[in-house]
Formats: sequence, structure tokens, C-alpha cells
Amino acid sequence: MLLRTPQLLWPLLVWYLQTAFGASSLRGPSAHCSYQLGSPKECPILPRTRSEGREGDAGSWQTLAPTAEGDSMMCIDGKTPYKFQFRPGSEQKLLIYLMGGGACWDREHTQTFPTCTHEPDLRDEHYQSVFSTDNPTFQDFQILKVGYCSGDGFIGNATHLDYAFGSSCTEVSPKCPRAAQNGFLHLKAAVDWLQSTGLGKSRLDYLALIGASAGAIGLHIWADDLLRRFNPLKASVVFDSYAGIFREGMQSQTFRSLNSCSLPIIPNISGYACPYNLTLQDVLKKTMTDHSSVKFVHINSKVDAVQMLFYDVALLLNSTSVEASNFLSQQLYYRILNQLFSSYARHENWGSYLVNGALHTYTDGRTAGSAVQDSPPGGMNFQIGSLLAEPCGLEIQSNCGEARLPSVGQWLDILVSDISGVSGGTDGDRQRFVCAGQQTRYTQANGSVSYCDAGI
Ligand SMILES: *[C@@H]1O[C@H](CO)[C@@H](O)[C@H](O)[C@H]1NC(C)=O
Ligand SMILES: *[C@@H]1O[C@H](CO)[C@@H](O)[C@H](O)[C@H]1NC(C)=O
Ligand SMILES: *[C@@H]1O[C@H](CO)[C@@H](O)[C@H](O)[C@H]1NC(C)=O
Ligand SMILES: *[C@@H]1O[C@H](CO)[C@@H](O)[C@H](O)[C@H]1NC(C)=O
Ligand SMILES: *[C@@H]1O[C@H](CO)[C@@H](O)[C@H](O)[C@H]1NC(C)=O
Repeated sequence: MLLRTPQLLWPLLVWYLQTAFGASSLRGPSAHCSYQLGSPKECPILPRTRSEGREGDAGSWQTLAPTAEGDSMMCIDGKTPYKFQFRPGSEQKLLIYLMGGGACWDREHTQTFPTCTHEPDLRDEHYQSVFSTDNPTFQDFQILKVGYCSGDGFIGNATHLDYAFGSSCTEVSPKCPRAAQNGFLHLKAAVDWLQSTGLGKSRLDYLALIGASAGAIGLHIWADDLLRRFNPLKASVVFDSYAGIFREGMQSQTFRSLNSCSLPIIPNISGYACPYNLTLQDVLKKTMTDHSSVKFVHINSKVDAVQMLFYDVALLLNSTSVEASNFLSQQLYYRILNQLFSSYARHENWGSYLVNGALHTYTDGRTAGSAVQDSPPGGMNFQIGSLLAEPCGLEIQSNCGEARLPSVGQWLDILVSDISGVSGGTDGDRQRFVCAGQQTRYTQANGSVSYCDAGI
């Protein structure tokens, strides 16, 4: 069967992105500050003014809008200002959270069928997320919430005029708007601001780095830089719902298009060359080796619907019609995921939490019940899940009946509060690799996508 580009995937993806990041979900920031890059003193860190016990009170968040000449501090649309948020907390504990919001590779999928958000999500509270004031794990952390609106997973340093594979624009016009993909500069501005306020001058006890979706992609590349900048006593790095599985050629095409290869966050790994054959996965393996006392973990649904859709984006970018039979199957996605995770599992400081089903992201309050807290499901992704998940995929809380497994939230808490509990020993391994299902090899799986790979 032949399918026109938008017919099958885009409505779903667009609907997902609009419900997840639509302007209607944005609430006004509680305190706002604009600053010129390099002059952060005008934007001091506000004292923490949380009033205990008041639900929804998040008065202590402040929103910052760095400004600069040109497009560098603009969102992908070239006109919405970039913003990030900060919540003060214990001086010794810092969470840096890289938000997600899709990805864009060309004009059609930026403008006509947008597959990335065009403005940062500035909600003060995200229901049942790591930002919730009643979340026990990160309650007393300082949080740098790095907004996202560049469609580039925080690794872009490019402003496109001719922003399409194959189309040509010679000057800016309503039909040919600029596309600013400067996510690298956005994240750098946020972290530079934080450091310029003096934070991190004395060594942090704990640094948590979490990236969700596109933020998780960026974190594969950024983790090394962020760990070195803050040099904490203890740290963990959490990739929430992006393993970075793409079609052959897609990563190099993206690095090239985003002008990433010359960025200081791209490491020089012998035998690999950017943009030809360097991958996110190579970078992460080097980072895990270089930071052997830091815990690295992936939280991922076994057949994450959004990651599978973005895998197919490569097909749609390069042709106007595609064979449905070329789309990725759940079985193949999960098989590739297991191969990748088996290779990570050779690193003793790596762990994984695999959830049955198709849900996308668990820590940012967009997923059903978010699984960060033990509470009933609700919210937008729940519906995506119920459209696409295996029947037991919705039972996040008990992870398909095996209540002896920790929830995502409990698991994160173990990671943060007792980091040594996440490796070694029989019990440690149960915590290090959480997965509900029959332990087996792909060849014995009979087409199932709920098994647990024997190689992890
Ligand atoms: C898409 O096509 C371009 C040009 O032919 C090619 O360079 C690129 O590798 C292709 N991308 C993918 C992901 O196949
Ligand atoms: C970003 O790209 C511009 C234009 O190509 C270049 O001049 C600049 O050095 C790049 N920035 C970094 C940090 O590599
Ligand atoms: C990368 O490392 C190799 C070997 O150490 C060196 O020859 C090369 O110049 C380095 N490249 C860059 C861009 O630093
Ligand atoms: C990656 O590409 C570089 C430059 O083209 C080449 O020298 C190297 O052998 C390649 N590495 C792998 C693992 O394919
Ligand atoms: C696949 O089928 C075989 C033979 O019926 C069975 O032993 C095995 O448990 C099945 N595997 C899974 C994952 O259900």
C-alpha cells in the first residue's frame, strides 16, 4: 500500500505534540527576568519562598530569557524568545532537566505539519513530575529546567534559510522563513547563567541530569560537559524515553544539518568521525567510561510509539510516498533496543528500566500517572498509550502485575538517595535492570514485545 506522507503518521504526531506542548497548557511564570548574555547579575536567584503544604504553590520558580543579537536566543520560528526556568533549593543538590518537544528536520515538518514545539513549555508545575513540589525525590533540589524550542535536541548551532532537503529559498519571505536551530546555545546560556551566579563554586553533593525525549537525545552528547563543569561528589544521568534508534544515515544527516560537529561538546573519539559515522551511542559509551562512578540509566517503553514514529521520519523526509511495509515494526524496534542496551550493559555503571507498552516519557508529568508517583493514570499520553500499547502496558504502577518491581518514581528515588544500591549483587541487579516479562532471547520470543531480553 502506498501512503502519502502526512496521511498516516503526521496527524498522530501533530496531535501528540499539540496536546503535549500546546499553548493552552502554558501558565504564566511567577517571576520573569531578561538578561543580555554575559550580564547575569541583573537576574539574581530569588530566595526560595515555598509555603509548605499549599498544593500547586510553585511561587519560587523564576523564568529567564537570555537575549542576544541575531537568532541565537530565538526559538525555531525565529521570533519567539528562548526561555528557561530555575527553582532554588538546597545549595548542595542540583537537578538539570533537559525538556523534550519533538524534532524538526525540514520546512514542511516545521511549518506545515510541525513535529517540534515552537515555544518552551513554561508551566510552573507539571502534574506528578520531577518538578512537583510534593515529589519526594527532588523536593529540596535546585532545579534548572532547560526549556526547549529548537527542534534539534540541544545540539544545533545553525540558522537555515534554505531549510529543506531538496527545496530552495534564496531570501527570507513568509513562504521562506528562517529556521533557527540553536539549541546548543540555549542550553549553554542556561548553564552559563547558573554558574555565573556562583552555583557550583563549592562542590555539589549531588547532581542529577535528566533528559526527556529530545532532551534525552541531547543529554547523550551533553552529559560529559555538564559532569565536568559541576564535578559533583555523586551524580546520576537519566535518559527518559529516547534511546536514539534511527535509520542508517539519519544521525550523520542530522549532525551535518545542525552544524554540530565543530561544537566543543562533540568529543574526538578515535576511529569515528563526525558527521560520517559518529553516533550518540558512541559518545555515551565514552562518557560512561570516563565517568565510571556516575550512574547512567535509560527509562524506556519496550515499544515507545513516539520513538518509533520518529524512526520512520527518515523515510518521509526523503520521499513523498512510502511503503507502509517499510515502517518499523514493534518487534524490530524492541529487538534493536535490546541489542543497544545489551551493549550498554557491559558498563557496570549503566542500568535500565523497561516498561511494557508504548508510552513516551515518564518524568515530565506528561505521561499517564507519570509513574513518578504511585497514583492512578490520567493525562494525554494515557490515550496514546491506550491506542497503541499492549494490554498490560498501561499498568505502569505494577509493571504488569509484578508488584515486587519498583515504580519508575521509586527507582529514581533509589538512584538518588542511595546510589550504591543500583549496582552489583543479585538484589542490586534486580534494581539495576528493571523489566517485567519472561527472560528470553529474541529468537524464542514468538513475536512478543513484552519479554525481557536475556542479554541485559
Ligand atoms: C536522504 O537522502 C539524502 C540525499 O540523497 C542522503 O544523503 C541521506 O543519507 C538520506 N537520508 C537517510 C536517512 O536515508
Ligand atoms: C556556531 O556556528 C557559527 C557559524 O557557523 C560559528 O561561527 C561558531 O563558531 C559556531 N559556534 C560554536 C560554539 O562552535
Ligand atoms: C583527535 O585525536 C587524534 C588522535 O589523538 C588527533 O590526531 C586529532 O588531531 C584530533 N582531532 C581533533 C579535531 O582534535
Ligand atoms: C569512520 O569514518 C572515518 C573517516 O571517514 C574512518 O577513518 C573510520 O574508519 C570510520 N570508522 C568506522 C568505525 O567505520
Ligand atoms: C515461545 O514459544 C515456546 C514454545 O511454545 C515457549 O516455550 C516459549 O515460552 C514462548 N516464548 C515466549 C516469550 O512466550
